[in-house]
This record gives sequence, C-alpha cells and structure tokens, in this order.
Amino acid sequence: MANWVSAGCGVIANELAQAMEKRGQKLYGVVNRTPEKAVAFAEKYGVQRVFTSFQDVCADPAVDIIYISTPHNTHIHFLRKALAAGKHVLCEKSITLNSEELEEAVQLAKEHGVVLAEAMTIYHMPIYKELKKRMDAGKFGELRVIQMNFGSYKEYDMKNRFFNRNLAGGALLDIGVYALSFVRMFLNSCPDQITSQVKLAPTGVDEQAGILLMNREQEMATVTLSLHAKQPKRGMISFDKAYVEMYEYPRGQKAVITYTEDGHTEEIVAGATADALGYEVEDMEQAIAGHPELMKLEFTEDVMKMMTRIRKDWGLTYPEEEHATEKI
Ligand SMILES: NC(=O)c1ccc[n+]([C@@H]2O[C@H](COP(=O)([O-])OP(=O)(O)OC[C@H]3O[C@@H](n4cnc5c(N)ncnc54)[C@H](OP(=O)(O)O)[C@@H]3O)[C@@H](O)[C@H]2O)c1
Repeated sequence: MANWVSAGCGVIANELAQAMEKRGQKLYGVVNRTPEKAVAFAEKYGVQRVFTSFQDVCADPAVDIIYISTPHNTHIHFLRKALAAGKHVLCEKSITLNSEELEEAVQLAKEHGVVLAEAMTIYHMPIYKELKKRMDAGKFGELRVIQMNFGSYKEYDMKNRFFNRNLAGGALLDIGVYALSFVRMFLNSCPDQITSQVKLAPTGVDEQAGILLMNREQEMATVTLSLHAKQPKRGMISFDKAYVEMYEYPRGQKAVITYTEDGHTEEIVAGATADALGYEVEDMEQAIAGHPELMKLEFTEDVMKMMTRIRKDWGLTYPEEEHATEKI
C-alpha cells in the first residue's frame, strides 16, 4: 500500500483516516496549519510522521500520495507544490476554484507523470458502476433527462466556509459539484448549453440556484441547489424505458428502477455508504499502480468547466480571481 500524507486534519481528513483504518491501513504522515491539531490527529490514528511544513512533505521521498483537505481556495497552492515535487495527489472537492487553475494543475501532473484526482465519492461508489453497466447494456433504453436536488440548511456563519467568500463558499462549489459530477457521469457528453438562475446570500456567494443543461445529444439535466433550505439529496435519471431513483447520492448504495413499459420496480444495492471513502482510497491506490482512468479526471475537468461558466454568467468571483494570486 502507498504512503499517504494528509494536508489538513479537519472533518473529512478524520473520515479518511477512519476509512483507511477500516482497510487495515494507516496514513504515513500529516501536516496542518495549526500544528497542535496535527499532533493530536497523529496520536489518534497512529500516524507515523507529523510534518511541520508542506515543503517537508514534498521533499520526503517516502511520500507517494498527498491528500489535500483544506478549503477550496487553498487547494491550488498545495497542488502546485505537490505536483511539481512529483507526488500523486487526491484533492478534496471542489478541486480548484476554476478551470484555469485546474488546467494548470493538470499540465503539472502530466509534466511530472503523476496522478491528479478529485476526491469525488460518486465516481467510486459500486452502485454507479453497476448502474452504468446496465445502462451501457441498453437495459433502460435511451437517456433523456436527469433531475438533481441537493439542499442543506447552513447558518449565515462566517466562521465556517459555507457562506464565506474568502473561503470560496457558496452552493455551487460546495454541493453543486456533487450534482454536476453525477450528471456528467451519466450524460453521454458534457453539456454545452447551460442556463441558470441564482439567489445570492447576504455575504455575496450563491445561496440558491437552478441550473438547466443540455448536451449535443439533446440529453438534458436540471440541478436545484440550496445552502439555506434542506432538500433531499435526490437524483433521478429518466430513460425512454425506465427511470432510476437515487437518494443520498454522494455516497449512494441503493437505486430503485421503475421499468415504465409494465411499471414493475427493482431495487438494487451495491457497496455501502459507510465505505465511501474506502472505495476512493482503493481506486487511488490502483490509479498510481497503472490505472489512472479510475479517477475520472476528464469528468472533473468537464464539471469544473461547467461551474466556471455558470459563475461567469452570475458575475460571481472570488478574491483570488480578482487579484493576481501569489504563487506560493
Ligand atoms: N468529500 C466529502 O464528502 C467532503 C465532505 C466535507 C468536506 N469536503 C471538502 O474537504 C475540504 C475541507 O472540508 P472540512 O469539512 O474537512 O473542513 P474543516 O473541518 O474546516 O477542516 C479544514 C482543514 O483545513 C485547514 N485550513 C483551513 N484554512 C486553511 C488555510 N488557509 N491554509 C491551510 N490550511 C487551512 C484547517 O486547519 P486548522 O486546523 O488550522 O483550522 C483544517 O485542517 C473542503 O474542500 C470540502 O469541500 C469534502
């Protein structure tokens, strides 16, 4: 198994460490802005090394994979250093702020021959691999339309990242990325026609949005997001002979299929929600061993293109996009 280092030790880094424990694996190292938290994290999960700087992580030849789990706007700084040092990277969603940053990272990864991937659970859940297999075998007929919801109720609290423009907050980058990744995974090509409506939060980031997408095959999708109203995490894929309903789709394990010719339903379960991050870790291990296609970087690039275009339509920028960023 590879030597992983976590850059960050917040909520999702804890989940990753627990997922690794479940696989009988431990993180090799951790580095964090607040070093005391890294020390406590290392003790909790039996992590061998606590690094005092990101430079030290990049300079350690024993490090294979760096897992980045800091706020969105900081990702590019870590990506630049890690990829230039020849480290494979699994980076939390949203992988960057925009396509320009992502393409810079993709070029660096190519130059240094390493795997770059976004930690998008949807691409690794067994239920989606099973659904895609059936879809590709023609079991559901032709794909027509996908409907996605995702709504969380978050307080207008500037201490967390959700509504904070300085931490690249907003519904699109935080939760829209899941809905669009689902859409991209099932549509036969990336949508090239996109319209949307947005309601901004008092902090200036996107609180609520409705997005309508269509690709060249005229397959359509609708996405409804909110960060200040709860909605079920529900996905529905309609074909001309069946529709598929998914709940809790970011880490989905169960799909209900209704075959519309006779109305009968079928429930399929594949994988387990509780193992979501474990599937991601497993695919990343295989990716660096010669199967980079498992990480679906091309979908990540398409989703980032869609989000960049949607924010451009809204005129919504982050401070880093308004000033030349320091290349740290
Ligand atoms: N895939 C998923 O299911 C999932 C779920 C949740 C989050 N995420 C993603 O994971 C990332 C982190 O989310 P989280 O909920 O784990 O956040 P969190 O609990 O707030 O943890 C954030 C981590 O980043 C560090 N950090 C904060 N600001 C930083 C800065 N300016 N420079 C360097 N480090 C900084 C924090 O260090 P300190 O200890 O010093 O504060 C902490 O270790 C986000 O990109 C988020 O979208 C993914």
